Amino acid sequence: MVEGGGKLRRGGAVQIWNRRSFLKTFGAASLAAAASAETGKRVHMLAVQDGPAQPVAANDHIQIALIGAGGQGMGDTKTAVQVPGVRLVAVADCYSGRLARSKELWGDDVFTTRDYNEILARKDIDAVIIGTPDHWHKQASVDAMKGGKDVYCEKPMIHLYSDGPEMIETARSTKRILQIGSQRVSSVLYAKAKELLASGAIGKLNMVTAHWDRNSSLGAWNYTVPPDASAETCDWPRFLGTAPKIPFNAEHFFQWRKWKAYGSGVAGDLFVHLFSGTHFVTGSHGPTQGMATGALRYWNDGRDAQDVVLGLFDYREGFNLSVRVNFVDGGEESESLVFTGSEGTLEIGWTGVTVSRVPRETEPGLTIGTFPEAMQDRIETEYRKKYPRKHFEGTPPVGSERYVTPEGYSDSYDHFKNFFASVRSRQPVVEDAVFGYRAAGAALLSNLSIEKGAVVRWDPDAMKLL
Ligand SMILES: NC(=O)c1ccc[n+]([C@@H]2O[C@H](COP(=O)([O-])OP(=O)(O)OC[C@H]3O[C@@H](n4cnc5c(N)ncnc54)[C@H](O)[C@@H]3O)[C@@H](O)[C@H]2O)c1
Repeated sequence: MVEGGGKLRRGGAVQIWNRRSFLKTFGAASLAAAASAETGKRVHMLAVQDGPAQPVAANDHIQIALIGAGGQGMGDTKTAVQVPGVRLVAVADCYSGRLARSKELWGDDVFTTRDYNEILARKDIDAVIIGTPDHWHKQASVDAMKGGKDVYCEKPMIHLYSDGPEMIETARSTKRILQIGSQRVSSVLYAKAKELLASGAIGKLNMVTAHWDRNSSLGAWNYTVPPDASAETCDWPRFLGTAPKIPFNAEHFFQWRKWKAYGSGVAGDLFVHLFSGTHFVTGSHGPTQGMATGALRYWNDGRDAQDVVLGLFDYREGFNLSVRVNFVDGGEESESLVFTGSEGTLEIGWTGVTVSRVPRETEPGLTIGTFPEAMQDRIETEYRKKYPRKHFEGTPPVGSERYVTPEGYSDSYDHFKNFFASVRSRQPVVEDAVFGYRAAGAALLSNLSIEKGAVVRWDPDAMKLL
């Protein structure tokens, strides 16, 4: 099919063979096949550090408590106690069923309470994990730090923009360790992606495309409401905190993400992971402006948070970010971040990062098929004098490498390991309050933009809305 001189004749048209025409003619699938035929797709297993070799002395344990023992709080705690030298001693939650479950999981000796202040008053607790709904993150973190505890607070760090400066200032003034729970920041995958980008593997970064789509009832936050849910088994006033006072509502209690009074929409739940990943990999402080559109398209069950949101953001480092969350997707749940550069792409998925390199073309190419044959030949002869190298006569020079995590790898474990290392060393954490605020502050610009119907501006250094 390919004729001499790199020309492809189809119905009289003549095209110079270059990467774009290759893609247009044969599609990306052929390109991938060609790539693997030429270079083979190399897969590398990422190295994972083991825990400390030395066992921790019994009197050198870090004693922790959990505040907010729901799905994530319990999951976090199960992971945290796997880090050598960490012991759980207390749990606070507003639902008696979760306090009972905590004793089933961690033993009758674990102290349980509805009031986290009872935990903060105890001198035998060094650090707390905060797994409450978003609207409690700031207050529980501030109270814990003022009570002398180090804090691992779940993402998103903030619910309101005023939460950020207060949390940062409290961590500073109390000299407490405050780590935010976006576990990808401790992931070996993201570390690899950061290293690849910095090494110039994809050239100059110009775009990041990130999405998280779900197509399930649980994905859309329809979590189970237990049949014993009542004003007796649930401490409703304590759950509400600063949220508007309404009569007991079991859906609000157990499915709080659906309402903006407690959650932060898909922006706070999921965009924040995409922002923390982007900021970690690029080293950026955040976008300078953003705009978003979104609506409730499918889950019309009384919620006020949107189930489809798309956002666009400008980064002064010279790239744009687009983020999307769709709970009405017709396909599988999927999450990915694609970093597109001048010479390739870098894609981070659940278990691997793939870098695909396509060197920039060194000749401009020709569009001459509509000209008479003689003219085509004349132009091409001149062109080949100027650009003697014939590109892509065979397969284009692309390369693709994939780095994967070992089976069972947990970035949450690494995130806790980093947190407890800082608790011991008093050295800065991998994801401090400033990083957490920059990620959550950027993510929540989406909600603000939808609310205002306008582009919103943000100073990523000063962490201020403009
Ligand atoms: N890092 C991640 O990947 C990840 C994943 C899921 C959830 N999260 C975050 O974890 C947090 C919790 O989410 P979840 O799915 O576990 O919610 P959940 O509803 O399962 O659990 C929240 C728990 O907090 C309790 N609670 C509410 N107010 C409290 C208070 N004042 N004092 C003590 N307990 C209180 C509730 O009773 C409930 O049991 C959210 O902020 C969420 O964004 C993070």
